[in-house]
Amino acid sequence: MSQIGIGFIGCGGIHRAHAPHVVEHPDAFIACAMDVNEAAVKKHQEDYGTECGTTELDHLLAHDDVDAVVVCTPTGFHPDAVIAAARAGKHVLCEKPMAMTVEKCEEMAQVCEDNGVILQIAFVRHYCNEWLKLREIIQDGTIGRPVVWRSVSGGSGAPTPWFFDREIGGGPFIDGAVHNYDWARFTFGEASRVSANLRKLKEATTAWDTGTAVVDFESGDQLIMVWSWGLPGFGYTVRADSAHDVLGPEGAITFPGDAKLSVRLQDGEHLVAFEPDTGADWFRRQMAHFVECVRTGEQPAVGAREGIEATRIAEAILSIGGEPGVVALD
Ligand SMILES: NC(=O)c1ccc[n+]([C@@H]2O[C@H](COP(=O)([O-])OP(=O)(O)OC[C@H]3O[C@@H](n4cnc5c(N)ncnc54)[C@H](O)[C@@H]3O)[C@@H](O)[C@H]2O)c1
Repeated sequence: MSQIGIGFIGCGGIHRAHAPHVVEHPDAFIACAMDVNEAAVKKHQEDYGTECGTTELDHLLAHDDVDAVVVCTPTGFHPDAVIAAARAGKHVLCEKPMAMTVEKCEEMAQVCEDNGVILQIAFVRHYCNEWLKLREIIQDGTIGRPVVWRSVSGGSGAPTPWFFDREIGGGPFIDGAVHNYDWARFTFGEASRVSANLRKLKEATTAWDTGTAVVDFESGDQLIMVWSWGLPGFGYTVRADSAHDVLGPEGAITFPGDAKLSVRLQDGEHLVAFEPDTGADWFRRQMAHFVECVRTGEQPAVGAREGIEATRIAEAILSIGGEPGVVALD
């Protein structure tokens, strides 16, 4: 098969994490780039040497060289882009969160299925050695089960205003935390219940920007998150913007860095090493998997089901709003 032509829909921040791995891939090339902002298209073309650049989605989708697209628009615009691409017969790698609601996610999944195109969701932690090692240690039962995963994330929040828009970005409890929901599902199994206490502290936000949320899993495992994009911090954020630990009945896991996890058991601390890698490695592996799926027709390891279920948790938490509450998941 000749090289796979990839089109970018949205040429902002995260597309820069993907684009180099298309350029360097022996079986793929960037066939076209589209963004509603002409300057973003031009910058893409300058940086990656892509001949075809457009502000019109239809133009990109009509391009014969585009076999597949990477959707990197703000989240609220993912459904329109994915559905149009699928109807045009293009395979899709869609950034996370898949969409703002389960209803939209299900529609996207259905249209992709009906049109016989692959839909991969970019939950990049599936390609990160540290997260994979954590999962392995938990699933081995090294610290016993059930576990409590505590996660604290802070800082003044995402770089562009749309992330704070309730309809388009949804704030940290969907945008950032969806990585945690997905990872927890991947490790613990299905979620059974969520509870939350959310607030808006930042002036220019229509999304909940700060609060606490708890996700209970059928396994008895629990994810507890404290998150703020609403407090300035004055230069202070929790370590690398987030800190995690996992506590079990027989031990605890912490993240000391330096390509190691610390596992504390009754007989003391054990350092568990993993192959060091960087964000660029995760995005390269993710893109390589997508290209392989497009080439072979194989279903992606992280697909619509993962996108839908992580969004289900986010949607339930956001539905609770400012009054503390609990929602059972079916
Ligand atoms: N995997 C990760 O860890 C990660 C990190 C950051 C962002 N993201 C996700 O990636 C997506 C994009 O985030 P970003 O940080 O790149 O945002 P961004 O604001 O930097 O870029 C978004 C780009 O999309 C363009 N755009 C807006 N509406 C569009 C439309 N209808 N069609 C085409 N282009 C459009 C904008 O002009 C902009 O260039 C979001 O869903 C976000 O949650 C994922």
